[in-house]
Amino acid sequence: MAVTRTLSIIKPDATNRNLTGKINAKFEEAGLRIVAQKRIRLTKEQAGKFYEVHKERPFYDELTTFMSSAPVVVQVLEGENAVAENRRVMGATNPADADPGTIRKEFALSMGENSVHGSDSDENAAIEIAFFFADTEIVG
Ligand code: CMP
Repeated sequence: MAVTRTLSIIKPDATNRNLTGKINAKFEEAGLRIVAQKRIRLTKEQAGKFYEVHKERPFYDELTTFMSSAPVVVQVLEGENAVAENRRVMGATNPADADPGTIRKEFALSMGENSVHGSDSDENAAIEIAFFFADTEIVG
């Protein structure tokens, strides 16, 4: 299987509760390497641009308000089949449906405040990584 990359975001509900280290441990225990990482505070406009694909959804305003409410940690994860592996480690979007041991099962508060974001395809991973990182900031 190929070594690939995915974009991860540790969301405000998790940074507020000081969970960055515990979430990073889940990634590293699963064999995903954190090859870039920075803590930033998104503006509502940046959050809106990042989640533009959801613009017509009823939760768009709630989502972008939440994502700009406190710091986030944006990361590039690298590993075998990184997109799918990260999604497995994160668990289902709704924590009520997430498998035991996953990040969302252990830490997420609700469907909206679900602690982490991960890219859903290799194509979107490339777009989302470029949204936050220059190539020179990613050190594998
Ligand atoms: P994420 O993986 O970041 O991608 C889009 C986000 O929208 C998703 O995680 C959830 O946090 C959020 N989301 C999806 N569905 C709902 C919903 N029904 N209500 C509120 N937020 C939602």
